[in-house]
Amino acid sequence: MLSGKIALVTGGGSGIGRAVCRLLARDGARVVATDMDGGAAQETINMLKGKAHCVLLKHRDDHLSLKMDVTDKTSVESAISAAIDKYKAPPSLITNAAGIIRDNFMLQMDEKSFMEVLDVNLKGTYLVTQVATMALAEHDASSGSIVNISSISGKLGTIGQSNYSASKAGVIGFTKSTAMELASMGVRVNCVLPGFTQTAMVGGVPDKVVKLILKMTPLKRMAQPEEIAEVVAFLLSDKSSFMTGASVEVTGGLGM
Ligand code: NAI
Repeated sequence: MLSGKIALVTGGGSGIGRAVCRLLARDGARVVATDMDGGAAQETINMLKGKAHCVLLKHRDDHLSLKMDVTDKTSVESAISAAIDKYKAPPSLITNAAGIIRDNFMLQMDEKSFMEVLDVNLKGTYLVTQVATMALAEHDASSGSIVNISSISGKLGTIGQSNYSASKAGVIGFTKSTAMELASMGVRVNCVLPGFTQTAMVGGVPDKVVKLILKMTPLKRMAQPEEIAEVVAFLLSDKSSFMTGASVEVTGGLGM
């Protein structure tokens, strides 16, 4: 399905990003797992090369891990250049999954926590999209697909997450604007709005908050990262060839 494609994933060292790497490799893509934590990105690649997967995964020796900080343009440019050096072509499938939380009530939130979240979740998405798209243009690529990981919090808001909700609402707007601008280049841009998903990110959420969210979720459970990654893989693939600018909710019914 994605045979021969080069797919770059940010936040590829954990959670949803790691699951996206696994499924894209399963579907035949050559995967560039990037993360601020270079060791975690390498672990993802080691998993792709692991014996348990070797029968299923194509190109298993052709994946790459890179340390990349999405908030730093030089770091993003170096990573895209390294991918081009390896494959002699730029990645055409981009997943922006790097993200952080710094939760607090708005009245208590300091400026640093507010800006850090905007920097990683929103500015990072912009920088990676811009650098990756410019590389595609420089190589006269005729198609590409970008998936940004927003959040249902970007649509509904969440108590204690004014910074995070603002960043994820920003990702939805950014997705729509770039979808309009890049359509003529043959590049589609969509975003996914996950609900509560079992990853390290939600590990520190207090039990009573978890219970409350599950109560509000019709399917009464958290998502597994693979359940989000399957939708990302679909949006990256040609199976979604008439979709661009879409915000796809994967929430177990939360916020419908
Ligand atoms: P996670 O914490 O498991 O993974 C996030 C990854 O991003 C980590 O590997 C981390 O090292 C990396 N990262 C953080 N800052 C970075 C930076 N500056 N540059 C590069 N990499 C950086 O989190 P999870 O849950 O897998 O989140 C993935 C995406 O999904 C995030 O954008 C998150 O906001 C979003 N999301 C998660 C939900 C959840 O319930 N887990 C719900 C809705 C959206």
